[in-house]
Amino acid sequence: MKAREIKTGVHWVGAVDWDRRLFDELIPLPDGTSYNAYLVQGSQKTALIDTVDPTMAEVLFARLDSLKVKAIDYVVINHAEQDHSGTLPGVLSKYPQAKVICTPKCKGLLMDLLLIPEAKIITVEDKETVSLGDRTLEFVHAAWVHWPETMLTYLREDKILFSCDLFGAHLATSELYVSDEGHLYESAKRYYAEIMMPFRPNIEKHLARLKEYNVELIAPSHGPLHRRPEFIIKAYHRWVFDPPQNIVVLPYISMHGSTRQMVNYFVEALTQRGVVVKQFELSQVDIGKLAMALVDAATLVIGTPTVLISPHPLVAYATFLANALRPKTRFASIIGSFGWGSRAKETIIDMIPNLKVELLEPVIIKGLPREADFKALDNLAAIIAEKHKGLAQASS
Ligand SMILES: Cc1cc2nc3c(=O)[nH]c(=O)nc-3n(C[C@H](O)[C@H](O)[C@H](O)COP(=O)(O)O)c2cc1C
Ligand SMILES: [Fe+2]
Ligand SMILES: [Fe+2]
Repeated sequence: MKAREIKTGVHWVGAVDWDRRLFDELIPLPDGTSYNAYLVQGSQKTALIDTVDPTMAEVLFARLDSLKVKAIDYVVINHAEQDHSGTLPGVLSKYPQAKVICTPKCKGLLMDLLLIPEAKIITVEDKETVSLGDRTLEFVHAAWVHWPETMLTYLREDKILFSCDLFGAHLATSELYVSDEGHLYESAKRYYAEIMMPFRPNIEKHLARLKEYNVELIAPSHGPLHRRPEFIIKAYHRWVFDPPQNIVVLPYISMHGSTRQMVNYFVEALTQRGVVVKQFELSQVDIGKLAMALVDAATLVIGTPTVLISPHPLVAYATFLANALRPKTRFASIIGSFGWGSRAKETIIDMIPNLKVELLEPVIIKGLPREADFKALDNLAAIIAEKHKGLAQASS
């Protein structure tokens, strides 16, 4: 296993995890992932930027050996999460003279999460630089991308931004650089939706700060490298800044078909009014797709039967996720069916305090929908269509 040259003295030494199907025991990985690490050799010092997931430590070591690396002076840890820092203990035993460079906040995390000795760690402030001789590393603090300790590293002379999880994508590929921007867009949007969206205000600040830097290559910690940085930066701008679109996201479940009848009717009623619907049946859902749909949607409508007075547990799970992801959704409602007594509506409303939404009158019915229930669904669809027109006017 060899290192891959980016420039003379700058190599990719990461690992591609083709077969991983779940991240953090939570996030589906339809296309696998990669853990990117980079070796930067200056005229006087050598720095390793990030490591790899500990399950693939041997891959990192083999790539370093292929370069006959005798000594590493610095290991830059942009982010303490173990998919990037997890091989740090192994790196420090293989290269005992190496010092770790990270933010002050990251220092504490490395000591707690990986039991790294304090004496090994040098902390750097925002915009501080470290010279490798003919090359200079500049550190850019970037809190909450998506942890509080994160930083980005800018290699000045080569204009490379090692952006950590920011601009990353869970995408296993044998290609070092992005080749199919369409495919990458999907993976990067999924990644943004799952990982970055909850921190939108912080991402906004970081995007503004990055304008100070002349970046020719973005080297993230997951997925291929961006030779056209403007492509991924523009995509992030769209996801972060664009107003929500004329889309209803409709996660739902139905045990005996009543809620399903409501959903079928409602989707048709919205479609006839020119509203785009993204419907997710929750017994088989890919939560990454649901998260991606939430990036752009103006409205979330949750469909649920009542189970033991409450929403169906799978609906509660999807609702909990939507609340945690903090999308820019403006409106929300609930539709569903119960038999004898329900607090499903109240429970769902209590579960979404993070969503800064206007609640549109829910349609909660007893048993199968009747004529009056279909009328109520028509009414809700008409209100949503009207609200969405207001959105378009407000943003145009
Ligand atoms: C396991 C289970 C638990 C239920 N618990 C309640 C309940 O606590 N309160 C209630 O009003 N209905 C309850 N129901 C009845 C359903 O909410 C009702 O039949 C509803 O119409 C089902 O909608 P669906 O056809 O979309 O699944 C329960 C049904 C099942 C299968
Ligand atoms: Fe991370
Ligand atoms: Fe990561």
